[in-house]
Formats: sequence, structure tokens, C-alpha cells
Amino acid sequence: MSPQERSEAPAPHSVGSAADMTRGQTRGLTPGESIRADFPIFEHATYLNSCSQGALSLRVRAAAEEWLDGWDENGAEWEFWVERNEAARAGFAGLIHAPTDEVAVTTSVSQAVSALVSALDFSGERNRIVISEYEFPTVGQIAHAQALRGAEVVHVTPASDGSIPSERFAEAIDERTALVCCTAVSFRTGHRHDIPAIAEVGHASGALVLADSYQAVGALELDVRALGADVVTGGTVKYLLGSSGLGFMWLRGSLLESLLPTQTGWFADEDIFAMSIADYSPHDSARRFDSGTPPVPSLYPGAAGMGIIAEAGVPTIETHIRGLADRFLAGLDDLGATIATPRGDNQYGPMICVVSTDPNALVAALAERQVVTSTRDSNLRVSFHLYNVEEDVDRLLDALRVNRTLLA
Ligand SMILES: Cc1ncc(COP(=O)(O)O)c(C=O)c1O
Repeated sequence: MSPQERSEAPAPHSVGSAADMTRGQTRGLTPGESIRADFPIFEHATYLNSCSQGALSLRVRAAAEEWLDGWDENGAEWEFWVERNEAARAGFAGLIHAPTDEVAVTTSVSQAVSALVSALDFSGERNRIVISEYEFPTVGQIAHAQALRGAEVVHVTPASDGSIPSERFAEAIDERTALVCCTAVSFRTGHRHDIPAIAEVGHASGALVLADSYQAVGALELDVRALGADVVTGGTVKYLLGSSGLGFMWLRGSLLESLLPTQTGWFADEDIFAMSIADYSPHDSARRFDSGTPPVPSLYPGAAGMGIIAEAGVPTIETHIRGLADRFLAGLDDLGATIATPRGDNQYGPMICVVSTDPNALVAALAERQVVTSTRDSNLRVSFHLYNVEEDVDRLLDALRVNRTLLA
């Protein structure tokens, strides 16, 4: 858009400011019964699948409609969209306690991690990427794609209890390691990595450490000032209650100057509206890891979803989830079920996985009773969020008791 076009853009409507989104508005939401009425799916289902997609709220639906209304009324609302993109950046930053200029707004974790590795040189001695066996496919596939640029990929496998302690990472990391990838919570087993300990091991060998927090952000308190990782990624589909098409990447500020992504786009430029094709001049901030036109349709629901999380407060949500997970674990023990998720302190979060003899049949049997879950490998995946209540856990346990033969 030229400066002239910009001046012709319709006056932006009022936008929830970045501060609103990070601080939360005044309402203050309490997890549990009181918030549930805002999520219509609970009128007909026991929704326990936030690890796949957070439930749709009335507020997020209204935000998506607001995007369409604005388009209809005003056509191109460029200035407002750019403002929304910046509000989303501030929203993500607030959730992880990061400065806003250390956060890139992305369309997915895939875009973020691809841009990150595009800034790394794998042609020399330090050419290894160490990945946990629990990385999401996109992280593993992007790592292996770097073999075309000289990288070697090393996998770190779990111990017999399903955990991957930092000692196992230590065996795989050395001075040849450029990047360590350790997902915060495994999408396959619900297991939580000890990110600070793994980061310490990575840093001792001079490696960068990436924690993909998609299965944690919004459900578990994440504070990049204490986490130890150098890069944290995530997105709005799951515990941030938004839609697909919006994600983020936080990068430690001190690293930014030395990281020049070659996977880039015009919204990563030092001056988006200079519209120059003369050179590559990335923005000083983490915005150098943004890409093209902001993901406008996803910004509206994403901001609304993050607003709900900010108003409820992640520490409060985490405590609520922990209570539900522990009730579920106790019920599973009574059933004599085999639990794939490690049980130790800080080893599990919002998702508990239960071993099944036929996980697809089990998910289908639960669905017949309007209990919505999902599956990976031989596990049933059950995940809890701020809108779940103890009755959800009990209904699920009743349904599992009836289908006991499908549990290992
Ligand atoms: C741990 C984790 N990372 C990443 C993703 C998604 O990556 P992307 O945003 O690239 O689709 C998911 C889920 O879909 C996930 O569970």
C-alpha cells in the first residue's frame, strides 16, 4: 500500500489495545462452571479435546464475524489490520512474559521454525540438530529438511517410563550441536520436558535451544525469563482458544542481531511500507521473523481467545487443570488402566494419555456417549482446559468403565 493509499484507508475502528490483551480486561473470569456457558459445544458434548482444538466461544465467534463485517463495510482495513497484528504480538508477549519486540507473529509453528533454521548455517562443524522423539512432525521434518543444507539430525529417545530426562539430551549434545528442539509438552504422550535443565545442557555446548510450547501455552504458566530456552513457539489453535493460521515465535533479544532469516517476507522488512525491492533489510526486532500479509482472518479470533485466557489468568487455569487431571488419574488407577503420561511432579500438564488396545474404537465408543477425545499412537488423548469441570471427568470415567475392554 502506498502512502497515498494509506491516507485513503478508512479510519480504523477502535481496537482492544495491546495492554488490554496482556493485562486482561476488568471482567475477570473464573475457570469452570461460570465460563462454560460461553462455549456452546458443552450443550451437547463433553469436550475433552483441547489438545487438538480449543472449544469455540461466543466471543471468538463474534470476533470472526467482526472481521467479515469490517471487510463488508470498509473494504481494505489495512491500518486496522496492522494494528491488530501488533496487538496479537503484544498478546503473545504478555502470555510468556516477554518484551513485545522479541516476538514474531507467524502463521504457524512451521513458518516460525522454518524461518529460524533459515538463519542458521549448517555448512561447518556445528551442523547438528538434536530433537526429542516427542517433537511435533513439523519440527522433525523441518530438521531433516536441513540435511539438504548440510545438517545432521540426532534423535533423543524416551526412557522406559516415557520421560526424556535432561541426561538423555546430554548424551546427544556436544560442540557439533547447533540447535536442540525439546517440545514443552508432548502431543503424543502428554509428557512435559524439563526445559530449564535441557537448556542448561544445550548452552553448555553452545547450542541454541528451541521449546515448542504449542501444547502448553494458555494452559501452563510459561515465563521466558525463567524457562532457559532461546526460542519459544506456539499458536492459537489449542489452549489459546483461537483458530488456525496464527502463531508466534519468541527469540531471546540478545540473539536477534546475529540471526538473519533467509526465509522472509515484506512484513519482516525494516520499513514495510517502503515497498523496496532494492535490498534485504530486515527489521531490528523479532519482526524480522514475520513473513507476508498478516493472517488477518485468524487475528480476530486469536486476539479474542487470548483475551479470555488473559482475563482468567494462566496460573489460575493451570491450577484448575491440575485438579481435573489429578481427579482423572485417580479414577484411572481405580480402573487399573495403563497411563502413558509420566506421573512425577511437573511431568504432566493438561493432557493425559491412556494406553488402549484399540484407540480408534475407543474414541468412537466415547463419541457415541458425546465424549470428545482424540488419539495418537496407541493412546487415548484426554485434555482439560478452563471450561472443563469435575462432572466432565466423571462422565469420561463412566464411559471408560463401560469400555474397559478397550483399555490396556
Ligand atoms: C506441539 C505442536 N507443535 C506444533 C503444532 C502445529 O504446528 P503448525 O502451527 O505448524 O501447524 C501442533 C499441533 O497441531 C503441536 O501439537
